[in-house]
Amino acid sequence: VSLLPELHPPHTHGGTALVIDVLRATTTATTFLEQGADAVIFAPTPEVAFARREAAGGAQVRLAGERSGVIIPGFDLGNSPLDAQRQNWAGHQIVMNTTNGTGAAHLAAQSAERVLLACLRNAPAAAVAALAYPGDLRIVCSGTNRQVSLDDCYAAGVLVRELLDRAVCQPDDSAQMVLALLNQWPDPLAALEASRHGQRLLGLGDVDAALADLALDVAFCAKVGVSDTVPRLLGSETGGLVFS
Ligand code: MLT
Repeated sequence: VSLLPELHPPHTHGGTALVIDVLRATTTATTFLEQGADAVIFAPTPEVAFARREAAGGAQVRLAGERSGVIIPGFDLGNSPLDAQRQNWAGHQIVMNTTNGTGAAHLAAQSAERVLLACLRNAPAAAVAALAYPGDLRIVCSGTNRQVSLDDCYAAGVLVRELLDRAVCQPDDSAQMVLALLNQWPDPLAALEASRHGQRLLGLGDVDAALADLALDVAFCAKVGVSDTVPRLLGSETGGLVFS
């Protein structure tokens, strides 16, 4: 387990990376694909996202992302998995850019042969998908502003548990550390609510009634094993990572 994307050893070429940003980018990306989106594209910057929408003539491309938890000006949607769940996105490409999660996937893609997106909602399915590939398996936590985050480490612990339930793995020390979090917080929602990022999202809802749904987002992100959708990296196009 890499507790931060920067700690994903660049020398480990090959293998599979499971990238986690449970609050909320990988949960949201998973939900867009579950709701029929043709692809989710992680753009490296908002500018690249705007250019993609313009090049497509707008119609079938929607931009989703946040800074400090709120929608990026000019984007169509924020980074809310609940918003992603509100409609069927068949025929749409969703281009995402977020503070930490999308960049973490870009870092992981520099060295891993395969990149999957994981969250609590798809944890069992992500474990099954990852174990289908040969070679080294690394869970990459996005963290928050280059700090290790409890929310991602907790989700990594759930993934480690799911992997160990299914296969003989050799957990490294950080895998054993994140696994221990499950004893501290048997309830996933309690763990997400205890995290700094969880508290920040809940706090935004307290100061601005328009953001009250963020508490519902956190509860949505805390559900374990309710989705079979596992976003897989297909390749990269003009700097964006294409998942389907
Ligand atoms: C991120 O990429 O930092 C997060 O997904 C932030 C969020 O929207 O909660």
